[in-house]
Amino acid sequence: MSDVLTFTREFIRSPWTTASPLPTSATACEVALEPLPDRGDPVVLELGAGAGATSAVVQRRLAGRGRHIAVELNPRLASVLSLRHPGVEVVCDEAVDAMADLAARGVTVDLVFSTLPISLAEDRSFLVAAGRLLSPGGALSQVQHSWTRVLPWAKAAERALAEAFEEVVVSRTIWRNAPPATITIARRPRG
Ligand SMILES: C[S@@+](CC[C@H](N)C(=O)[O-])C[C@H]1O[C@@H](n2cnc3c(N)ncnc32)[C@H](O)[C@@H]1O
Repeated sequence: MSDVLTFTREFIRSPWTTASPLPTSATACEVALEPLPDRGDPVVLELGAGAGATSAVVQRRLAGRGRHIAVELNPRLASVLSLRHPGVEVVCDEAVDAMADLAARGVTVDLVFSTLPISLAEDRSFLVAAGRLLSPGGALSQVQHSWTRVLPWAKAAERALAEAFEEVVVSRTIWRNAPPATITIARRPRG
C-alpha cells in the first residue's frame, strides 16, 4: 500500500490524532528544513512522522549526514516508517515523553521538525521539552494548515510559541500543500 493510502486510512481511523487526510508536501518540508546547515552532521528530530512522506524529504536533505530520529505515536504508522526508512531511528512514543527521554540521555538536536497537530504547541511542556533539546543555534519548525490560524487553539499555540522562544518567524503561505500551510520557525528558547 502506498504511503498516502496508509496515511489516509489512519486519518479515517483517528482523524483528531492524525490531523490531516494527506501527507505534508515536499515543498512545505523544504521550507521547514531551511534552518538545517548544509555541512556537518546535523541531528534532526522529526515529531509526528506518519508513514514517512516527510521523513523521505529529511533523508534526502541529510543525504547520509548526521542523525535522523523520528517519533510517531501510532504503532501502525511507526512500523511502516521503520520498514520504508531503515536509516531513520524510529521511536514509537508520545512526543513529549520521547523528548524527555532523549534529553535524559544527553541528546541535543539541531532541528525539531514537527508536523504534530498545532494544538500540541499550546502545551507548555511540549515547548519546554523541545527548547531543552535544541543545540545553540538550533530551531523548531512547526507545520500548520493556514486555515487553522483563525481557530482559538491555534492562536493560543502561536502565543505560547512567542512566549517560549525569542525569535518566531511565520513563513509565507505554501500553496503547494493540501491544504495550504505555513511554517513557524522558532529559535532561542527563553529561560
Ligand atoms: C499531520 S500528521 C503528519 C504526518 C507526516 N509527518 C506528514 O506531515 O505528512 C501528524 C502525525 O502525528 C502523530 N501524532 C499525533 N499526536 C502525537 C503525539 N502526541 N506524539 C507523537 N506523534 C503524534 C499522528 O499519529 C500523525 O501521524
